[in-house]
Amino acid sequence: MQAAIRPFQAARPSNPLRGTLRVPGDKSISHRALMFGAMAVGETRITGLLEGEDVLRTAAAMRALGAEIIRQDAATWLVAGRGVGGLSEPEDVLDMGNSGTAARLLAGILASHPFFSVLTGDASLRRRPMRRVTDPLAACGARFTGRDGGRLPLAIEGAHDALPLDYALPVASAQVKSAVLLCGLNAPGVTQVTEPAATRDHSENMLRHFGAEVAVERTRDGAGRVIRLVGQPHLRAADIVVPGDPSSAAFPIVAALLVPGSSLVIEGVGLNPLRTGLLETLREMGGAIRVANARVEGGEPVGDLHVEYGALHGVDIPAGRAPSMIDEYPVLAVAAAGARGTTRMRGLHELRVKESDRLAATAALLAANGVRVEIAGDDLLVHGTGAAPIGGGLVATHMDHRLAMSALVLGLATTTAVRIDDASFIDTSFPGFVALLNGLTAGAPALTPA
Ligand code: S3P
Repeated sequence: MQAAIRPFQAARPSNPLRGTLRVPGDKSISHRALMFGAMAVGETRITGLLEGEDVLRTAAAMRALGAEIIRQDAATWLVAGRGVGGLSEPEDVLDMGNSGTAARLLAGILASHPFFSVLTGDASLRRRPMRRVTDPLAACGARFTGRDGGRLPLAIEGAHDALPLDYALPVASAQVKSAVLLCGLNAPGVTQVTEPAATRDHSENMLRHFGAEVAVERTRDGAGRVIRLVGQPHLRAADIVVPGDPSSAAFPIVAALLVPGSSLVIEGVGLNPLRTGLLETLREMGGAIRVANARVEGGEPVGDLHVEYGALHGVDIPAGRAPSMIDEYPVLAVAAAGARGTTRMRGLHELRVKESDRLAATAALLAANGVRVEIAGDDLLVHGTGAAPIGGGLVATHMDHRLAMSALVLGLATTTAVRIDDASFIDTSFPGFVALLNGLTAGAPALTPA
């Protein structure tokens, strides 16, 4: 159950943000670690797991499907897997809460397991499109019955002898790619997915880490990828170290860039090149962000980010960069609101189907706080003046954690405090967000209940 509604507000801190911090584990990698661990033989030890609501839903679902999962210590979890094809029919409905990633990836797993299951979620997730996964997955022999538009709750009759899929994604979506690959794990032969642009490759990396055969080639135009997975591999348990989530690091990074005098070091942040579009963009805007201590941990590039306050300017961001920063646009728009000049973010159609319609909601968030903003087709334009935005608005967060955190970051830099209707969804991806940010501004807390 989601916690009670928590109205919150953010006001300009009396001190800059300073210090060294870590952000919680990567959400994408955390979901996958639990899912792949549940389908491997042996005990997988996960350190740095994100203990946010979304990931806890995945842990509960994999338990309901027969895996043994225990929390050994803070962020250290053990998963005793059932082997590929070894999961069993759940006794009850699987409730994935707010998490589109959990629901879509699980749909892929369930499609090629010969039993009945039902997926549901909260009001936000029940509004989100599922046909993008159920249409391709049905070709393996699974049957899906959902509400109007294929939405959750969704009943799944998994295929008895699943066929391998060969699917070209119409949109660049790591969730859809991963759903097809996960289905292919329990199908004989080769499952093939073609993506029009490269999306986060955590599934491919982790499948290899567990011993599967995965081949990746560029498409002819160089932008996309063709991924081939040899089905029914023997997955062996393997330890996983989850890096800090770059999508969560985005919030303290933008806060430090906007609050005069700030200087932060964020340690152990995942720097997979398919996730670093925000860093590239903020640097183009003039942001002082430096990577130190670059290393590889658990198969993923990781580094410490040094961020210093400084004036930003508007930029034009190509649509092709969207997959590498798809979750970061709301907070990037906040950075753009504090920059001088216009920032144009192109090709944001996918934002309309996230935890909320993030294109409309991000524009509304800024407009409510005195920032000039426009939506032109699929583009978002933010007109910054270089001066602190006025603030003073009440932001509707639409059950969307990233909107809530983005609005609170904006409030650190506005003349008047920014209020949000509900901070409770922040726990889906960033438990401890409020305490962490308040801990960086010695003095009166900047984020407080409203
Ligand atoms: C995710 C992929 C992205 C992202 C989501 C996590 C994943 O969605 O928005 O938060 O873990 O695969 P799409 O791939 O649908 O764009």
